[in-house]
Amino acid sequence: MAKTLHIKNYGCQMNVYDAIRMSDVLEPLGYRQVDTPEDADLVILNTCHIREKAAEKVYSELGRLRTLKQDRADGGSEDRAPMMIGVAGCVAQAEGAEMVRRAPYVDLVFGPQTYHRLPEMVARATRESSQKRGAGRGIIDTDFPIEPKFDFLPDAKSQGASAFLTIQEGCDRFCAFCVVPYTRGAEYSRPAADVIAEARLLVAGGAREITLLGQNVNAYHGTSPSGPSGPSGQSGQSGGEWRLAALAAELAGIDGLERIRYTTSHPRDMTPDLIAAHGEIDALMPYLHLPVQSGSDDMLAAMNRQHTADDYLNIIDALRATCPDIALSSDFIVGHPGETDADFEATLDLIRNVGYAQAYSFKYSPRPGTPAAAMEDAVSEELKSERLARLQTLLNEQQISFNETFVGRSLPVLFDRPGRSDTQRAGRSPWMHSVHADFGTAAEAAAAFGRTVDVRILSAHPNSLAASPVRGSDAAQQEPATV
Ligand code: 5AD
Ligand code: SF4
Repeated sequence: MAKTLHIKNYGCQMNVYDAIRMSDVLEPLGYRQVDTPEDADLVILNTCHIREKAAEKVYSELGRLRTLKQDRADGGSEDRAPMMIGVAGCVAQAEGAEMVRRAPYVDLVFGPQTYHRLPEMVARATRESSQKRGAGRGIIDTDFPIEPKFDFLPDAKSQGASAFLTIQEGCDRFCAFCVVPYTRGAEYSRPAADVIAEARLLVAGGAREITLLGQNVNAYHGTSPSGPSGPSGQSGQSGGEWRLAALAAELAGIDGLERIRYTTSHPRDMTPDLIAAHGEIDALMPYLHLPVQSGSDDMLAAMNRQHTADDYLNIIDALRATCPDIALSSDFIVGHPGETDADFEATLDLIRNVGYAQAYSFKYSPRPGTPAAAMEDAVSEELKSERLARLQTLLNEQQISFNETFVGRSLPVLFDRPGRSDTQRAGRSPWMHSVHADFGTAAEAAAAFGRTVDVRILSAHPNSLAASPVRGSDAAQQEPATV
Protein backbone atom coordinates (compact mmCIF):
# COMPACT_ATOMS: atom_id res chain seq x y z
CA MET A 1 0.00 0.00 0.00
CA ALA A 2 1.30 3.48 -0.84
CA LYS A 3 2.48 5.38 2.21
CA THR A 4 3.97 8.81 2.57
CA LEU A 5 7.20 9.95 4.15
CA HIS A 6 8.48 13.37 5.16
CA ILE A 7 12.05 13.80 6.41
CA LYS A 8 13.00 17.10 7.98
CA ASN A 9 16.73 17.45 7.89
CA TYR A 10 19.02 19.46 10.14
CA GLY A 11 22.77 19.96 10.22
CA CYS A 12 25.55 18.81 7.97
CA GLN A 13 25.81 17.23 4.53
CA MET A 14 26.23 13.83 6.15
CA ASN A 15 22.67 14.18 7.36
CA VAL A 16 21.58 15.05 3.82
CA TYR A 17 23.16 11.80 2.64
CA ASP A 18 21.59 9.86 5.53
CA ALA A 19 18.14 11.28 4.73
CA ILE A 20 18.51 10.18 1.10
CA ARG A 21 19.50 6.70 2.24
CA MET A 22 16.63 6.50 4.75
CA SER A 23 14.19 7.14 1.95
CA ASP A 24 15.99 4.50 -0.18
CA VAL A 25 15.55 2.00 2.66
CA LEU A 26 11.86 2.83 3.05
CA GLU A 27 10.99 2.86 -0.65
CA PRO A 28 10.55 -0.92 -0.93
CA LEU A 29 7.97 -0.66 1.85
CA GLY A 30 5.89 1.61 -0.37
CA TYR A 31 6.92 4.95 1.11
CA ARG A 32 7.12 7.92 -1.23
CA GLN A 33 8.35 11.34 -0.16
CA VAL A 34 6.03 14.28 0.37
CA ASP A 35 6.86 17.93 1.03
CA THR A 36 4.97 18.56 4.26
CA PRO A 37 4.49 16.68 7.54
CA GLU A 38 0.73 17.24 7.18
CA ASP A 39 0.68 14.88 4.20
CA ALA A 40 2.94 12.25 5.73
CA ASP A 41 2.20 8.90 7.35
CA LEU A 42 5.75 8.82 8.70
CA VAL A 43 7.61 11.97 9.72
CA ILE A 44 11.31 11.69 10.54
CA LEU A 45 13.29 14.51 12.14
CA ASN A 46 16.91 13.89 11.18
CA THR A 47 18.61 15.89 13.89
CA CYS A 48 21.96 17.54 14.55
CA HIS A 49 23.60 17.92 17.94
CA ILE A 50 26.67 19.92 17.04
CA ARG A 51 25.67 23.29 18.42
CA GLU A 52 23.45 25.19 20.76
CA LYS A 53 20.08 24.11 22.04
CA ALA A 54 19.85 21.30 19.50
CA ALA A 55 17.78 19.06 21.75
CA GLU A 56 15.42 21.90 22.77
CA LYS A 57 14.73 22.75 19.14
CA VAL A 58 13.88 19.12 18.44
CA TYR A 59 11.49 18.93 21.40
CA SER A 60 9.67 22.05 20.28
CA GLU A 61 9.35 20.67 16.73
CA LEU A 62 8.08 17.43 18.25
CA GLY A 63 5.44 19.42 20.13
CA ARG A 64 4.09 20.64 16.78
CA LEU A 65 4.12 17.13 15.35
CA ARG A 66 2.28 15.83 18.40
CA THR A 67 -0.63 18.15 17.58
CA LEU A 68 -0.65 16.92 13.98
CA LYS A 69 -0.59 13.32 15.11
CA GLN A 70 -3.41 13.95 17.55
CA ASP A 71 -5.51 15.78 14.92
CA ARG A 72 -5.01 12.86 12.57
CA ALA A 73 -6.09 10.38 15.26
CA ASP A 74 -9.14 12.50 16.20
CA GLY A 75 -10.38 13.08 12.70
CA GLY A 76 -8.96 9.80 11.46
CA SER A 77 -10.60 7.96 8.65
CA GLU A 78 -10.61 4.17 8.84
CA ASP A 79 -8.30 3.76 5.86
CA ARG A 80 -5.59 6.15 7.05
CA ALA A 81 -3.00 4.69 9.40
CA PRO A 82 -2.04 6.67 12.50
CA MET A 83 0.79 9.11 11.91
CA MET A 84 4.17 7.77 12.97
CA ILE A 85 6.92 10.04 14.31
CA GLY A 86 10.60 9.12 14.18
CA VAL A 87 13.63 10.97 15.47
CA ALA A 88 16.94 10.15 13.81
CA GLY A 89 20.44 11.61 13.84
CA CYS A 90 22.74 12.81 16.56
CA VAL A 91 20.17 14.22 19.01
CA ALA A 92 18.36 10.87 18.91
CA GLN A 93 21.67 9.13 19.53
CA ALA A 94 22.48 11.40 22.48
CA GLU A 95 19.01 11.44 24.05
CA GLY A 96 17.94 7.83 23.46
CA ALA A 97 15.43 6.67 26.08
CA GLU A 98 15.17 10.17 27.52
CA MET A 99 13.43 11.20 24.31
CA VAL A 100 10.56 8.71 24.60
CA ARG A 101 10.23 9.60 28.26
CA ARG A 102 9.87 13.31 27.49
CA ALA A 103 7.89 12.81 24.29
CA PRO A 104 6.00 9.51 24.67
CA TYR A 105 4.13 10.06 21.39
CA VAL A 106 7.40 9.50 19.49
CA ASP A 107 7.32 6.08 17.84
CA LEU A 108 10.95 5.62 16.77
CA VAL A 109 14.25 6.94 18.11
CA PHE A 110 17.27 5.77 16.18
CA GLY A 111 20.84 6.91 15.71
CA PRO A 112 22.93 7.51 12.57
CA GLN A 113 24.29 3.95 12.64
CA THR A 114 21.02 2.00 12.68
CA TYR A 115 18.76 3.44 10.01
CA HIS A 116 19.30 0.37 7.84
CA ARG A 117 17.01 -1.33 10.40
CA LEU A 118 14.15 1.09 9.69
CA PRO A 119 11.93 -1.50 7.99
CA GLU A 120 11.97 -3.70 11.12
CA MET A 121 11.49 -0.70 13.39
CA VAL A 122 8.54 0.59 11.36
CA ALA A 123 6.96 -2.88 11.28
CA ARG A 124 7.31 -3.25 15.06
CA ALA A 125 5.96 0.21 15.72
CA THR A 126 2.98 -0.47 13.44
CA ARG A 127 2.23 -3.75 15.25
CA GLU A 128 2.52 -2.20 18.65
CA SER A 129 0.47 0.87 17.85
CA SER A 130 -2.34 -1.20 16.29
CA GLN A 131 -2.42 -3.38 19.41
CA LYS A 132 -2.58 -0.33 21.59
CA ARG A 133 -4.82 1.78 19.34
CA GLY A 134 -2.39 4.51 18.47
CA ALA A 135 -0.42 4.73 21.71
CA GLY A 136 2.77 2.95 20.65
CA ARG A 137 5.66 2.38 22.99
CA GLY A 138 8.64 4.19 21.51
CA ILE A 139 11.17 1.93 19.83
CA ILE A 140 14.73 2.93 20.59
CA ASP A 141 17.71 1.79 18.55
CA THR A 142 20.85 3.76 19.31
CA ASP A 143 23.31 0.88 18.98
CA PHE A 144 26.68 1.12 17.38
CA PRO A 145 26.29 -2.20 15.55
CA ILE A 146 29.34 -4.25 14.67
CA GLU A 147 28.02 -4.67 11.14
CA PRO A 148 28.28 -1.41 9.21
CA LYS A 149 24.90 -0.15 8.02
CA PHE A 150 26.32 0.39 4.54
CA ASP A 151 26.32 -3.39 4.00
CA PHE A 152 22.53 -3.40 4.40
CA LEU A 153 21.53 -0.35 2.40
CA PRO A 154 19.97 -0.78 -1.04
CA ASP A 155 21.83 0.39 -4.14
CA ALA A 156 22.18 4.16 -4.33
CA LYS A 157 19.60 5.96 -6.46
CA SER A 158 20.22 8.93 -8.71
CA GLN A 159 20.81 12.21 -6.88
CA GLY A 160 21.08 14.31 -10.03
CA ALA A 161 24.17 16.07 -11.37
CA SER A 162 25.76 16.67 -7.99
CA ALA A 163 25.74 13.80 -5.51
CA PHE A 164 26.87 13.08 -1.96
CA LEU A 165 28.65 9.88 -1.05
CA THR A 166 29.57 9.08 2.56
CA ILE A 167 32.88 7.25 2.65
CA GLN A 168 33.85 7.66 6.29
CA GLU A 169 32.02 8.17 9.53
CA GLY A 170 32.76 8.94 13.12
CA CYS A 171 35.87 10.56 14.49
CA ASP A 172 38.78 9.61 16.72
CA ARG A 173 40.19 13.14 17.05
CA PHE A 174 38.22 14.17 20.15
CA CYS A 175 38.42 17.94 19.83
CA ALA A 176 37.53 19.21 23.29
CA PHE A 177 34.40 21.09 22.19
CA CYS A 178 32.94 18.49 19.84
CA VAL A 179 30.18 15.99 20.41
CA VAL A 180 30.71 14.03 17.19
CA PRO A 181 32.98 11.29 18.58
CA TYR A 182 30.20 10.49 21.06
CA THR A 183 27.21 10.66 18.71
CA ARG A 184 28.72 9.23 15.53
CA GLY A 185 31.15 6.91 17.27
CA ALA A 186 34.60 5.66 16.35
CA GLU A 187 36.16 6.36 12.99
CA TYR A 188 35.08 3.93 10.26
CA SER A 189 36.09 3.93 6.58
CA ARG A 190 34.03 2.10 3.97
CA PRO A 191 35.94 -0.36 1.77
CA ALA A 192 37.21 1.33 -1.40
CA ALA A 193 35.43 -1.19 -3.65
CA ASP A 194 32.05 -0.28 -2.10
CA VAL A 195 32.71 3.42 -2.56
CA ILE A 196 33.75 2.91 -6.19
CA ALA A 197 30.63 0.82 -6.88
CA GLU A 198 28.38 3.47 -5.34
CA ALA A 199 30.14 6.22 -7.29
CA ARG A 200 29.55 4.30 -10.53
CA LEU A 201 25.83 4.01 -9.74
CA LEU A 202 25.61 7.72 -9.01
CA VAL A 203 27.39 8.57 -12.27
CA ALA A 204 25.10 6.20 -14.17
CA GLY A 205 22.24 8.16 -12.58
CA GLY A 206 23.56 11.46 -13.96
CA ALA A 207 26.12 12.59 -11.37
CA ARG A 208 28.88 14.74 -12.84
CA GLU A 209 30.17 15.77 -9.43
CA ILE A 210 30.54 13.67 -6.30
CA THR A 211 31.25 15.11 -2.87
CA LEU A 212 32.87 12.51 -0.66
CA LEU A 213 31.63 12.93 2.87
CA GLY A 214 32.96 12.09 6.28
CA GLN A 215 33.14 13.73 9.69
CA ASN A 216 36.88 13.51 9.25
CA VAL A 217 36.98 12.52 5.61
CA ASN A 218 40.69 12.90 5.02
CA ALA A 219 41.34 10.30 7.72
CA TYR A 220 39.85 7.84 5.20
CA HIS A 221 41.69 4.53 5.17
CA GLY A 222 39.41 1.97 3.52
CA THR A 223 40.28 -1.59 2.60
CA SER A 224 41.80 -1.60 -0.88
CA PRO A 225 39.75 -3.16 -3.69
CA SER A 226 42.10 -6.14 -3.70
CA GLY A 227 41.38 -6.85 -0.03
CA PRO A 228 43.16 -6.28 3.28
CA SER A 229 46.24 -8.22 2.24
CA GLY A 230 46.29 -6.88 -1.30
CA PRO A 231 48.63 -4.23 -2.66
CA SER A 232 48.46 -0.82 -1.06
CA GLY A 233 47.20 2.27 -2.83
CA GLN A 234 49.39 4.22 -5.17
CA SER A 235 50.43 6.49 -2.34
CA GLY A 236 52.43 3.84 -0.59
CA GLN A 237 50.16 2.91 2.30
CA SER A 238 50.72 -0.53 3.70
CA GLY A 239 48.31 -3.25 4.71
CA GLY A 240 46.04 -3.12 1.69
CA GLU A 241 44.45 0.17 2.69
CA TRP A 242 43.74 3.11 0.47
CA ARG A 243 43.91 6.61 1.78
CA LEU A 244 41.84 9.40 0.30
CA ALA A 245 44.36 10.35 -2.40
CA ALA A 246 44.35 6.83 -3.84
CA LEU A 247 40.55 6.67 -3.72
CA ALA A 248 40.20 10.05 -5.44
CA ALA A 249 42.64 8.99 -8.17
CA GLU A 250 40.58 5.86 -8.83
CA LEU A 251 37.26 7.71 -8.84
CA ALA A 252 38.67 10.29 -11.24
CA GLY A 253 38.95 7.45 -13.78
CA ILE A 254 35.18 6.86 -13.86
CA ASP A 255 33.86 7.88 -17.24
CA GLY A 256 31.53 10.87 -16.94
CA LEU A 257 32.66 11.95 -13.48
CA GLU A 258 34.07 15.43 -13.90
CA ARG A 259 34.38 16.74 -10.37
CA ILE A 260 35.38 15.33 -7.01
CA ARG A 261 35.17 17.17 -3.70
CA TYR A 262 35.57 16.02 -0.14
CA THR A 263 34.52 17.42 3.18
CA THR A 264 35.20 17.84 6.14
CA SER A 265 38.92 17.53 6.73
CA HIS A 266 41.19 17.82 9.75
CA PRO A 267 44.56 19.57 9.24
CA ARG A 268 46.42 16.71 10.91
CA ASP A 269 45.13 14.31 8.24
CA MET A 270 46.16 16.55 5.35
CA THR A 271 48.92 14.13 4.36
CA PRO A 272 51.56 14.92 1.71
CA ASP A 273 49.98 12.45 -0.75
CA LEU A 274 46.64 14.23 -0.47
CA ILE A 275 48.24 17.65 -0.86
CA ALA A 276 50.07 16.34 -3.95
CA ALA A 277 46.80 14.93 -5.31
CA HIS A 278 45.48 18.49 -5.63
CA GLY A 279 48.13 19.12 -8.24
CA GLU A 280 47.77 15.76 -9.98
CA ILE A 281 44.08 14.91 -10.22
CA ASP A 282 42.25 17.31 -12.53
CA ALA A 283 38.86 16.24 -11.22
CA LEU A 284 39.76 17.28 -7.67
CA MET A 285 38.20 20.71 -7.47
CA PRO A 286 40.36 23.68 -6.42
CA TYR A 287 38.43 24.28 -3.23
CA LEU A 288 39.05 22.90 0.22
CA HIS A 289 37.13 23.20 3.46
CA LEU A 290 39.86 22.85 6.06
CA PRO A 291 38.64 23.98 9.49
CA VAL A 292 41.19 25.59 11.78
CA GLN A 293 38.77 26.77 14.54
CA SER A 294 41.29 29.25 16.04
CA GLY A 295 44.54 31.01 15.18
CA SER A 296 45.90 30.87 18.72
CA ASP A 297 48.24 28.07 19.71
CA ASP A 298 46.95 28.18 23.29
CA MET A 299 43.38 27.77 22.10
CA LEU A 300 44.33 25.07 19.60
CA ALA A 301 45.95 23.20 22.50
CA ALA A 302 42.91 23.72 24.75
CA MET A 303 40.73 22.47 21.91
CA ASN A 304 42.95 19.37 21.54
CA ARG A 305 43.39 20.12 17.83
CA GLN A 306 46.86 18.55 17.84
CA HIS A 307 48.45 21.18 15.62
CA THR A 308 49.65 24.78 15.83
CA ALA A 309 48.69 27.81 13.75
CA ASP A 310 52.02 27.50 11.92
CA ASP A 311 51.36 23.86 11.10
CA TYR A 312 48.11 24.95 9.49
CA LEU A 313 49.74 27.80 7.56
CA ASN A 314 52.41 25.41 6.30
CA ILE A 315 49.70 23.10 4.97
CA ILE A 316 48.06 26.02 3.19
CA ASP A 317 51.42 26.98 1.65
CA ALA A 318 51.98 23.42 0.47
CA LEU A 319 48.48 23.25 -1.02
CA ARG A 320 49.03 26.54 -2.84
CA ALA A 321 52.35 25.30 -4.15
CA THR A 322 50.69 22.26 -5.75
CA CYS A 323 47.43 23.95 -6.72
CA PRO A 324 47.99 27.72 -7.00
CA ASP A 325 44.34 28.63 -7.50
CA ILE A 326 42.98 26.58 -4.61
CA ALA A 327 40.31 28.44 -2.63
CA LEU A 328 40.02 27.87 1.08
CA SER A 329 37.20 27.64 3.53
CA SER A 330 37.21 27.03 7.27
CA ASP A 331 35.19 26.77 10.46
CA PHE A 332 35.90 29.08 13.39
CA ILE A 333 34.77 28.97 16.98
CA VAL A 334 34.87 32.17 19.03
CA GLY A 335 34.64 32.21 22.79
CA HIS A 336 35.97 28.74 23.54
CA PRO A 337 36.65 28.56 27.33
CA GLY A 338 39.77 30.53 28.16
CA GLU A 339 39.88 32.56 24.91
CA THR A 340 41.54 35.91 25.66
CA ASP A 341 41.56 39.07 23.54
CA ALA A 342 45.06 38.11 22.37
CA ASP A 343 43.86 34.63 21.36
CA PHE A 344 41.05 36.16 19.38
CA GLU A 345 43.40 38.64 17.70
CA ALA A 346 45.57 35.68 16.68
CA THR A 347 42.55 34.20 14.92
CA LEU A 348 41.99 37.45 13.02
CA ASP A 349 45.68 37.46 12.07
CA LEU A 350 45.46 33.92 10.73
CA ILE A 351 42.41 34.86 8.66
CA ARG A 352 44.27 37.87 7.20
CA ASN A 353 47.20 35.64 6.50
CA VAL A 354 45.26 32.91 4.67
CA GLY A 355 42.58 34.92 2.85
CA TYR A 356 39.46 32.77 2.77
CA ALA A 357 36.99 32.35 -0.07
CA GLN A 358 34.29 31.68 2.49
CA ALA A 359 33.93 30.33 6.02
CA TYR A 360 31.55 29.31 8.78
CA SER A 361 31.87 30.80 12.23
CA PHE A 362 30.16 29.99 15.49
CA LYS A 363 29.94 31.08 19.08
CA TYR A 364 31.21 28.32 21.30
CA SER A 365 28.40 26.42 22.98
CA PRO A 366 29.08 23.78 25.61
CA ARG A 367 28.07 20.30 24.53
CA PRO A 368 27.14 17.98 27.38
CA GLY A 369 29.72 15.29 27.99
CA THR A 370 32.58 17.00 26.12
CA PRO A 371 35.81 18.00 27.92
CA ALA A 372 35.36 21.69 27.06
CA ALA A 373 31.98 21.73 28.82
CA ALA A 374 33.83 21.15 32.11
CA MET A 375 36.46 23.85 31.46
CA GLU A 376 36.62 27.04 33.47
CA ASP A 377 37.01 30.61 32.20
CA ALA A 378 33.84 30.72 30.18
CA VAL A 379 33.64 33.71 27.85
CA SER A 380 30.55 35.90 28.34
CA GLU A 381 27.79 35.78 25.72
CA GLU A 382 28.28 39.47 25.12
CA LEU A 383 31.96 39.08 24.35
CA LYS A 384 31.29 36.05 22.16
CA SER A 385 28.77 38.09 20.13
CA GLU A 386 31.20 40.98 19.81
CA ARG A 387 34.02 38.70 18.64
CA LEU A 388 31.78 36.83 16.25
CA ALA A 389 30.65 40.08 14.65
CA ARG A 390 34.25 41.26 14.14
CA LEU A 391 35.31 37.89 12.76
CA GLN A 392 32.39 37.74 10.37
CA THR A 393 32.99 41.27 9.12
CA LEU A 394 36.52 40.28 8.15
CA LEU A 395 35.43 36.99 6.58
CA ASN A 396 32.66 38.71 4.62
CA GLU A 397 35.13 41.27 3.26
CA GLN A 398 37.39 38.45 2.13
CA GLN A 399 34.51 36.58 0.54
CA ILE A 400 33.33 39.62 -1.40
CA SER A 401 36.80 40.45 -2.70
CA PHE A 402 37.33 36.80 -3.64
CA ASN A 403 34.07 36.80 -5.58
CA GLU A 404 34.89 40.09 -7.30
CA THR A 405 38.06 38.66 -8.83
CA PHE A 406 35.83 36.45 -11.00
CA VAL A 407 33.87 39.23 -12.73
CA GLY A 408 34.54 39.16 -16.48
CA ARG A 409 36.00 35.66 -16.37
CA SER A 410 34.56 32.63 -18.09
CA LEU A 411 34.06 29.61 -15.81
CA PRO A 412 32.78 26.07 -16.22
CA VAL A 413 29.65 25.77 -14.10
CA LEU A 414 27.82 22.56 -13.31
CA PHE A 415 24.13 23.45 -13.44
CA ASP A 416 22.33 21.26 -10.97
CA ARG A 417 19.52 23.44 -9.64
CA PRO A 418 16.50 25.23 -11.09
CA GLY A 419 16.70 29.00 -11.44
CA ARG A 420 14.33 31.78 -10.46
CA SER A 421 12.63 31.63 -13.86
CA ASP A 422 12.41 29.09 -16.66
CA THR A 423 15.24 30.81 -18.57
CA GLN A 424 17.58 30.51 -15.57
CA ARG A 425 19.53 27.71 -13.93
CA ALA A 426 21.83 27.69 -10.89
CA GLY A 427 24.98 25.72 -10.36
CA ARG A 428 28.45 25.69 -8.87
CA SER A 429 31.78 26.93 -10.11
CA PRO A 430 34.89 24.83 -9.43
CA TRP A 431 35.46 27.18 -6.44
CA MET A 432 32.03 26.44 -4.97
CA HIS A 433 30.44 29.72 -5.93
CA SER A 434 26.75 29.53 -6.38
CA VAL A 435 26.32 30.79 -9.98
CA HIS A 436 22.98 31.98 -11.38
CA ALA A 437 22.86 32.15 -15.16
CA ASP A 438 20.20 33.44 -17.51
CA PHE A 439 20.28 31.52 -20.78
CA GLY A 440 17.82 33.78 -22.60
CA THR A 441 15.46 30.98 -23.55
CA ALA A 442 13.82 28.18 -21.59
CA ALA A 443 15.14 25.66 -24.12
CA GLU A 444 18.76 26.71 -23.61
CA ALA A 445 18.32 26.71 -19.86
CA ALA A 446 16.87 23.21 -20.00
CA ALA A 447 19.76 22.06 -22.19
CA ALA A 448 22.28 23.31 -19.62
CA PHE A 449 20.63 21.47 -16.75
CA GLY A 450 22.70 18.59 -15.39
CA ARG A 451 25.74 19.62 -17.45
CA THR A 452 28.90 21.68 -17.15
CA VAL A 453 28.66 24.78 -19.32
CA ASP A 454 31.06 27.71 -19.69
CA VAL A 455 29.51 30.98 -18.58
CA ARG A 456 30.77 34.53 -18.31
CA ILE A 457 30.56 36.14 -14.88
CA LEU A 458 28.68 39.43 -15.07
CA SER A 459 28.60 40.47 -11.43
CA ALA A 460 29.60 39.33 -7.98
CA HIS A 461 27.41 39.29 -4.89
CA PRO A 462 28.33 38.32 -1.34
CA ASN A 463 26.97 34.77 -1.73
CA SER A 464 26.68 34.23 -5.46
CA LEU A 465 27.76 35.19 -8.97
CA ALA A 466 25.51 36.21 -11.85
CA ALA A 467 26.39 34.91 -15.32
CA SER A 468 25.34 34.58 -18.93
CA PRO A 469 26.35 31.89 -21.42
CA VAL A 470 29.55 32.29 -23.42
CA ARG A 471 28.64 32.56 -27.10
CA GLY A 472 30.11 32.92 -30.59
CA SER A 473 33.39 34.85 -30.86
CA ASP A 474 33.28 35.14 -27.11
CA ALA A 475 33.56 31.39 -26.82
CA ALA A 476 36.39 31.19 -29.31
CA GLN A 477 38.67 33.05 -26.93
CA GLN A 478 37.86 30.77 -24.08
CA GLU A 479 38.82 27.30 -23.05
CA PRO A 480 36.43 24.82 -24.68
CA ALA A 481 33.45 23.90 -22.54
CA THR A 482 34.02 20.82 -20.47
CA VAL A 483 30.92 19.05 -21.79
N1 5AD B 1 30.37 25.08 19.81
C1 5AD B 1 30.45 25.84 18.69
N2 5AD B 1 30.80 25.36 17.48
C2 5AD B 1 31.05 24.05 17.40
N3 5AD B 1 31.41 23.28 16.36
C3 5AD B 1 31.55 22.01 16.79
N4 5AD B 1 31.28 21.93 18.10
C4 5AD B 1 30.98 23.19 18.50
C5 5AD B 1 30.62 23.75 19.75
N5 5AD B 1 30.54 23.01 20.86
C6 5AD B 1 31.67 23.81 15.03
C7 5AD B 1 33.13 23.58 14.63
C8 5AD B 1 33.02 22.47 13.64
C9 5AD B 1 31.68 22.77 12.99
C10 5AD B 1 31.07 21.64 12.25
O1 5AD B 1 30.87 23.12 14.09
O2 5AD B 1 33.60 24.77 14.04
O3 5AD B 1 34.07 22.47 12.68
FE1 SF4 C 1 34.61 17.03 15.93
FE2 SF4 C 1 37.23 17.51 15.90
FE3 SF4 C 1 36.29 15.18 14.94
FE4 SF4 C 1 35.85 17.45 13.58
S1 SF4 C 1 37.87 16.52 13.98
S2 SF4 C 1 34.33 15.83 14.03
S3 SF4 C 1 35.60 18.94 15.24
S4 SF4 C 1 36.18 15.88 17.06
